[in-house]
Amino acid sequence: STEVARPSHLKSKPVVVIVIGMAGSGKTTLMQRMNAYLHQTRGRGYVINLDPAVSSLPFGANIDIRDTVDYKNVMKEYKLGPNGGILTALNLFSTKFDEVMNLVERRASELDYVLVDTPGQIEIFTWSASGAIVTEAFASTFPTVIAYVVDTPRSTSPVTFMSNMLYACGILYKARLPLILAFNKADVARHDFALEWMEDFEAFQASVESDASYTSNLSRSLALVLDEFYQNLSSVGVSAVTGLGMEDLFQAVEKGAEDYMSNY
Ligand code: GTP
Repeated sequence: STEVARPSHLKSKPVVVIVIGMAGSGKTTLMQRMNAYLHQTRGRGYVINLDPAVSSLPFGANIDIRDTVDYKNVMKEYKLGPNGGILTALNLFSTKFDEVMNLVERRASELDYVLVDTPGQIEIFTWSASGAIVTEAFASTFPTVIAYVVDTPRSTSPVTFMSNMLYACGILYKARLPLILAFNKADVARHDFALEWMEDFEAFQASVESDASYTSNLSRSLALVLDEFYQNLSSVGVSAVTGLGMEDLFQAVEKGAEDYMSNY
């Protein structure tokens, strides 16, 4: 189980933001933007890269998995394909995650936020033991929230939107951490349609039915599940490219951290 233990030595700072999202949703670009925004306005950030396969990072990471494991060597050594190599690299790294936690804890008093970038392929983090180990390590020490990055322009069809939200719902119930939906690429497509669907069950249902060669009973049941899910999260529209929505995002992070502190 990935249920997180919340001992009483939980510190109130820094707040950890684990950035998760489908491949290409803009995780890395958003991390860079959040980090730059922190430097300009809100305080001190610490950046951790857990993507072994990222070729170049647009920000300087304080801790970078690539300094410890080379996933291409892991592929050769264990005779794996790229995804197996990335997964195994993350598993190897997670066995030493107490060292990462020691580094962060030593710096904790000087930090306001820790930003954590995760591998491009979402399931490598969300469906692996190492993802659970990393999540638990943070959540048992600091208030920890998940920012689920949505590729907004690619989620405008109701069926795609629903499957993306169901995935996010799975993450919420697995991690049991405050969840923020970061509707990214707002410079290309605003997330008003998503807000309408999230607030108005009937509007969403009407869109699904007009879209679909879809079992309407099933989609109706799923939409009801999601209606409950939406009560438990914050949504913000952001653009990693233009910087739109960064203050909203950090306010949602703060609210998530408060919820975390008051619920354990
Ligand atoms: P992987 O780790 O490679 O799966 O991707 P990622 O989720 O880290 O996404 P990344 O930051 O690499 O961005 C993917 C693509 O989306 C890039 O071409 C970015 O330039 C683009 N992108 C990211 N954020 C935005 C945004 O806010 N607006 C627009 N227009 N493009 C964006």
